[in-house]
Amino acid sequence: MKKEDYYNIDIRNGIATIWMDQKGEKINKISPDVIGLFDEVFTELQENEQVKAIILISRKKDFIAGADIESFTKVTKRGDFEPVTRRGHAILNKLQASEKPVVAAIHGNCLGAGLEIALACHARIASDDKSTKLALPEIKLGLLPGGGGTQRLPRLIGLQKALDMMLTGKNIFSIPALKMGLVDKVVHVSALHNAATRLAEELLAKPLTRDRYHIDFKAGAGALQEKLTTIALEKTPFSNIVFKEARKSVDKMTQGNYPAPYKIIECVEIGWNQGMKAGLDAEAVKFEELILSPVSRQLIHIFFNMTEKKKNPYSVAPKKVQNMTVLGAGFMGAGIAEVSMQDNIRVLLKDINQDMINSAYKTIYDDLSKRVKKKAMTEIELQQTMGLLSGTLDYKDISNADIVIEAVFEDISLKQRVVKDVEAVISEDCIFASNTSALPIKEIARASQRPELVIGMHYFSPVPKMPLLEIIKTEQTAEWVLSTCYDVGVRQGKTVIVVNDGPGFYTTRILAPLMNEAQLMLDEGGDILQIDNEMNKFGFPVGPITLADEVGIDVGAHIMSGDLMKAIVAERNMQISTTLLQLAKAGYKGRKNKKGFYKYDEKGRKVKGQVDPEIYSFYGGNNRKKFDIDDIRMRCAMAMINEAALCLQEGIIENPTDGDVGAIFGLGFPPFLGGPFRYMDTLTVSGTLDILERLRDRFGSRFEPAQIIRDYAAERKKFYP
Ligand SMILES: NC(=O)c1ccc[n+]([C@@H]2O[C@H](COP(=O)([O-])OP(=O)(O)OC[C@H]3O[C@@H](n4cnc5c(N)ncnc54)[C@H](O)[C@@H]3O)[C@@H](O)[C@H]2O)c1
Repeated sequence: MKKEDYYNIDIRNGIATIWMDQKGEKINKISPDVIGLFDEVFTELQENEQVKAIILISRKKDFIAGADIESFTKVTKRGDFEPVTRRGHAILNKLQASEKPVVAAIHGNCLGAGLEIALACHARIASDDKSTKLALPEIKLGLLPGGGGTQRLPRLIGLQKALDMMLTGKNIFSIPALKMGLVDKVVHVSALHNAATRLAEELLAKPLTRDRYHIDFKAGAGALQEKLTTIALEKTPFSNIVFKEARKSVDKMTQGNYPAPYKIIECVEIGWNQGMKAGLDAEAVKFEELILSPVSRQLIHIFFNMTEKKKNPYSVAPKKVQNMTVLGAGFMGAGIAEVSMQDNIRVLLKDINQDMINSAYKTIYDDLSKRVKKKAMTEIELQQTMGLLSGTLDYKDISNADIVIEAVFEDISLKQRVVKDVEAVISEDCIFASNTSALPIKEIARASQRPELVIGMHYFSPVPKMPLLEIIKTEQTAEWVLSTCYDVGVRQGKTVIVVNDGPGFYTTRILAPLMNEAQLMLDEGGDILQIDNEMNKFGFPVGPITLADEVGIDVGAHIMSGDLMKAIVAERNMQISTTLLQLAKAGYKGRKNKKGFYKYDEKGRKVKGQVDPEIYSFYGGNNRKKFDIDDIRMRCAMAMINEAALCLQEGIIENPTDGDVGAIFGLGFPPFLGGPFRYMDTLTVSGTLDILERLRDRFGSRFEPAQIIRDYAAERKKFYP
């Protein structure tokens, strides 16, 4: 690459503007080459006597979207990347030490290495556009900010805020960025370059003074106290309290399964206590350690899979969906409406109960208002978005829908009836999608006159937060219907997998044996807290018993007694716990009626560490025993993993990637393990086979290994090349 392929220089009145515009790419990415070229450009400008100050700005819709992740995958041994990091450090140190002031003018994404470059500049100015986001998201890939971010960010915005940004990887929009001192000015995008020029001129006259610890006695009692606490914690030897607390919260969040957050804290701590040079040294060493860690490898795979899944794989063009009807304005219906409206789809909520429509309207409004608070949306955009929503009790209003997504109660005869009711009014090319959790789509399609237009669109709760959409096709589903639904999913911001029809499809089917195993352990005298804690430590965001409370014990019981389990029992003689059914009969529904495995307060919040006083009477009394930790983990995890293998064997999923993406994004399978299939590869398939055979010998035939596992083990094959 030549420097002209990335940078264009424009010099006016002593101010040089470096326009970043990576040739042939949609976004500017940072790679070792690009940094090297930047050094060349920068050195030339340093030597050019006409140039007094420099502006760094992008011609693309983003400032810099981050590092070129592809380049990390080529690192295979110690020493491959540390020199690259050190070179980057040297270049950014040079930038920071430049006597000619450098202003970063930021519009659009300013992520990872992009923000680290901006941090080395002498001032930052950002557009107020909602596309402008600043973040150090390396942690999401199991990495740390390796371009000086662990050093410059705390020095700029303070220890606590910097740790929070780096340990969550969250986006900061421009107004909050201004408030926290991450940027110095915010202007409209059309004024960005002009304002950056003025700022550069100001810097030439006098460098900016920033005093994060300045005490404004007029700021009001609350703000004053916050500032004094910050000073006490950050400017004194007490800063070790901040590090201790940060480690504690990371322990809780990661259960020690992810090395990156600990290494981030270490780098910050070294730099804070021993100076920037020591901090940068630590960063270079630890960054390479993380690139080579298996956890980061898995997270990078997932990142690539996710990016890949943003592309519609179907060659048939999707129909452009403008009008959607959501049938059933309950919990799921409201969520589906909300994510659809965010891409300008008009949504009509049809219910049989006006109160449900009103309450869905309020839920959506409240949720979007939170975005306004975070400055991710303006008040006007909120009003415009809400303008896309309407409600009705009358079927005749839905006639112009391009797609109907039903989220009525989970009952096959009701779903079949609504198909008929809907088809009486919709056009002939309107798609009918069901958000059923487990009912076979072909059963629903049986009621339809146009079964090729019937499909499953399985969302996860809560819809606005959960990233997965599982599309279920039948043998009859038309390809344009699939393509259209995929397109809708991507527009709703979802990661989409497409699976074949069958009881429980993929996600519900692999979840059921795990939930069943947890129930069987309780039947055997197990302890609720121990089982949940162990699965949490294994890496699931919540344990299986908490999950039963969250999903609803009634819903769980419905699945346990439905076609899915019947099919499994019939085919594999699987031992099923029926206690969930008894709980449901006794009125236990979980968190939604504050009566579940755990105790809930009046507001419906779980009382930490306390189970319902009556619950063990359903499981043989209060005398509980502790199980072997490995038994808990392997029984639960392997029940799910073996089922995932069966889904691949039977063609429910078409490849291991869909299986891994579905389990991680839909069910919270530990991302650091890479999903059920990558985990089997890590254990080796023959290792997996051994574990399953031992479980079968001890606990019964439900652990009989899937044939595909036997075959792969015999052939020494892996699920991924
Ligand atoms: N809750 C979850 O976690 C979850 C997750 C994935 C899928 N699902 C599935 O989504 C569907 C809905 O679940 P939910 O939790 O939102 O239920 P819900 O009880 O909150 O909502 C159901 C809504 O459907 C309405 N309704 C009932 N009959 C109707 C009809 N004939 N016409 C129009 N509206 C009608 C009800 O008034 C209610 O508003 C179910 O099939 C469920 O299995 C739920």
